[in-house]
Amino acid sequence: MQAPLRDKVRQLYTQKAGLYRFCFYGVFRYGSGVAAHLAQSGLIASDLRILDAGCGHGDVMKACLRIADQRKYVGVSLFAFDLTPAMLAELEAWAAQQASIPIQTQVADILEPDQLPPSWTHMDRIICSAMLEYVPRERLAEALGNLRARLAPGGHLLVYITRRNWLTRWLIARWWAANIYTPAEVEEALRHAGFQSITFTRFPFPYAYLNLAMMVVHATAR
Ligand SMILES: C[S@@+](CC[C@H](N)C(=O)[O-])C[C@H]1O[C@@H](n2cnc3c(N)ncnc32)[C@H](O)[C@@H]1O
Repeated sequence: MQAPLRDKVRQLYTQKAGLYRFCFYGVFRYGSGVAAHLAQSGLIASDLRILDAGCGHGDVMKACLRIADQRKYVGVSLFAFDLTPAMLAELEAWAAQQASIPIQTQVADILEPDQLPPSWTHMDRIICSAMLEYVPRERLAEALGNLRARLAPGGHLLVYITRRNWLTRWLIARWWAANIYTPAEVEEALRHAGFQSITFTRFPFPYAYLNLAMMVVHATAR
C-alpha cells in the first residue's frame, strides 16, 4: 500500500479504535454476528492453521479460540496480522495470556506480503473481516491473491466484506472512508485471484440484520 494511504488508514484506526469498537461491536453487535456465523460454519475444527488477515482488535481470533475451547478441538494454531499497531496491541496483550492455543501476531500490510513471516504458509483457513475495504479498489484481486498464496491446498477463505447500498454508502464509505462492493465485483476479484467454489452465505439469526450491510463469502483455492 502506498505510504500516504497506509498512514491515513493507520491514523484512522489509531485515533478511532475505541469508536470502532463502540459502534460495530457494542451497538451493531458485529463481532457477535461473526462469532455466530463462524460457530455454525463448520469451518473450525481440530488440527487447523487459521490466519486472521486484518485482525484489528482480534475478535475473530478470540471467537475461533472460544469455539475450539468449547468443542475441545486440539492442534489449532492461530496467526493474525494487521496494518495498525494500535489495533494489534490489544490482541497481543490478550494472546500473551492464552495458554491453550498458540497465537502469533505481526504488523503487516496485505499488499506487502513479504512483511509476513515466511513460515506463515499452508493456512487451512484464512478469515478476513472488514479489512479488504481499505485496499484500493484496483488492487482488491491482488490482495486476495496474496491471501491465496498463504492457503494450503484445499484450504478455505472466508471474507466478510461491506455490501454496496444506500445504507453503507453513508455508514461505511463516507464515515469510515472505506470501499464498498457489489457481490459481482467481489466474485470477479476472487476468480481473478484464483479462487473457485465461491459461495455467498449469510449471518444467522439473531444477527440476520447484518446481511443488510455485509456479505459473507466462502471460497476455496484452485
Ligand atoms: C474495520 S477494521 C476490522 C478489524 C477486524 N478484522 C474486525 O473484524 O473487527 C479494519 C482493519 O483493517 C486493517 N487494515 C486496513 N488496511 C490493511 C492492510 N492493507 N493490511 C492489513 N490490515 C489492514 C486496519 O488497520 C483495521 O484494523
